[in-house]
Amino acid sequence: MTEMATKSHDHGHEPAIFAFDAESEAKIGEILKKYPEGRQASAVLPLLDLAQRQMRRVSGSAWVPRVAMDAIAARLKMPPIRVYEVATFYFMFNTKPVGKWHLQVCTTTPCWLRGSDAVVEACKRITGIRHFGETSEDGLFTMTEVECLGACVNAPILQVNDDFYEDMDAATTGKLLDALKHDSPPPPGSMAGRQASAPEGGATTLTTLDFAPQPAPRGGE
Ligand code: FES
Repeated sequence: MTEMATKSHDHGHEPAIFAFDAESEAKIGEILKKYPEGRQASAVLPLLDLAQRQMRRVSGSAWVPRVAMDAIAARLKMPPIRVYEVATFYFMFNTKPVGKWHLQVCTTTPCWLRGSDAVVEACKRITGIRHFGETSEDGLFTMTEVECLGACVNAPILQVNDDFYEDMDAATTGKLLDALKHDSPPPPGSMAGRQASAPEGGATTLTTLDFAPQPAPRGGE
């Protein structure tokens, strides 16, 4: 399998063929071992994920073309329609090409209350994207609206590819996108400097606990 085998004829078009490369094949072997004989169809999710990651590696765009779904169906001995159903059901699989940096903005209520509108506006202003689902003209960014990412405690959240950037506002979104344009993503996490989801400014509770071992109680006392 050569690199060309997964390259699109043109960015944005369905490639003619897809085959797993050596890096993916090594992982497929390990994945399939997890399922009993005759139950290999259960590996459809990890194989779709592998296909999407291979596409990113090879073409720069993380998506799953239909020919990749067909390859997965053949490998797992399942009807192609069942792979299409799974790929189109789960939002984390992109069934059309996305930009190098996939901006997934959470706009569900906790993020919205904490300012996701400002994050969306900053993304639009900086990338030139006008609507969710669009890719910027330079091909660098795709902006997608997503539902709760399960990180509301540090809302609002902007997921970029696999990473969560948290406590976002217009200014930090601007800085982040600028860094992405220069191909140097900052470490993910809170952009307000919080440690995990601790309060801003540091811990306010459990600050004076003495964790020294205590003597065990004596029996009968
Ligand atoms: S509402 Fe945005 S992470 Fe939960």
